[in-house]
Amino acid sequence: PRRTPLIAGNWKMNLDHLQAIAFVQKLAWNLKDAKHDVAAVEVAVFPPFTDLRSVQTLVSADKLPIAFGGQDLSAQDSGAYTGEISGAFLAQLECKYVLIGHSERRTLHAETDEVVAAKVTAALKHNLVPIICVGETAADLELHGPSAVPVAQLRAALAGVSNAADFVVAYEPVWAIGSGQAATPEQAEQVAAQLRLVLQESLGQDVADKTRILYGGSVKGSNIAGYMREPNVDGALVGGASLDIDEFSSIVRFQK
Ligand code: G3H
Repeated sequence: PRRTPLIAGNWKMNLDHLQAIAFVQKLAWNLKDAKHDVAAVEVAVFPPFTDLRSVQTLVSADKLPIAFGGQDLSAQDSGAYTGEISGAFLAQLECKYVLIGHSERRTLHAETDEVVAAKVTAALKHNLVPIICVGETAADLELHGPSAVPVAQLRAALAGVSNAADFVVAYEPVWAIGSGQAATPEQAEQVAAQLRLVLQESLGQDVADKTRILYGGSVKGSNIAGYMREPNVDGALVGGASLDIDEFSSIVRFQK
């Protein structure tokens, strides 16, 4: 089955709204110069919340072939939740995607599997496509091997998900994030294949066939092609290298 590859740039807490405008403009020029075909490879950016309105304005005014989304959302719709952002707000700003359960949220903000599952349900309710992030730490890897923790995290995240839902899975080994120590394409493929099995067991063959599984962790222009050659890897979630316009553009132009 053909799955459109997705190259997603997670800016984390980088680039203010003015820098975001400049970046998205340059990215659009690069895509145009390269005659980039969005039907062949989808491109998305995940700016800080305060940038989203600016990005939306630019993308919609110029009809740029760049999707965008939030880096997180609240499990609640509205109310007395100081500092939180509702999925309804993201949807209204034409976000297509939302990252959920990134390892930095799990570690620094104590997001449990239950919180992640509730956020996935909230995202779907607001017609956002959740990008469910899973991955093992170096300690998990040593104790349980590569796929046990990501498999358990994905099962938990899918608790409230039906087989009609549109979502993406991102496999990000925590030891590979921002470390320069990327997983090998074979390692990424091994876990991605296990995650696809979870999709098949939980939601059926159709969902397993159509759902994209991304690899994340020290992806750059020079290693992207290796991941994209793997049958179960359908794109990348890029952190550090998504902040460098030339590097990110070269990842988008990967050669399979
Ligand atoms: O969401 C992105 C990941 O955390 C990967 O970050 O590309 O800087 O390793 P990185």
